[in-house]
Amino acid sequence: MKIKIIKDTNPIMRKRSLPVSLPLSNEDRDILDSMLDHLKKSQDPEYSKKHNIRPGVGIAAIQIGLLKRMFCVYIDMGDEIVQYQLVNPVIIESSLKKAALNGGEGCLSVPNEHKGYVHRHYKIKMKAFDALTNEEVVLTASGYIAIVLQHEYDHLDGKFYYDHIDSKNPMLILPNEEII
Ligand code: NI
Repeated sequence: MKIKIIKDTNPIMRKRSLPVSLPLSNEDRDILDSMLDHLKKSQDPEYSKKHNIRPGVGIAAIQIGLLKRMFCVYIDMGDEIVQYQLVNPVIIESSLKKAALNGGEGCLSVPNEHKGYVHRHYKIKMKAFDALTNEEVVLTASGYIAIVLQHEYDHLDGKFYYDHIDSKNPMLILPNEEII
């Protein structure tokens, strides 16, 4: 299926996505495969230039117009590839310690830059069904990967990364927050 990314100005992006029925339908599997494939290709500089697509490490179903609680991540950590096709994810634990990316965050659906620290939990535990491995998983993630998972999870509840930036003081660092 062809991926067309919806922008943050579209009101559908503010909607809460709905639970996905399990076992996963072949249709939902195909959607997840297309989403993951899009991320992989987007990180190939030649491909992204040729097709004028932006590189991304995560994509939620709502970003292609589907109100389904599922998202994919594809993160090249150098020594390993972190990839998931998560369905009905739930954050079951989150650290008091906070974290924010030094350069701020970006989003395939957000063409404009929003400068500032995006306050996240440093560490989370996320429960979900992973369609890549066909297993119920409980992921423990910290730092960058935890931030990506929280960013994608937010899309399922209609939130954007810039909702977490302090509009009065975008460069504010919270107590107990690590800038990474
Ligand atoms: Ni996003």
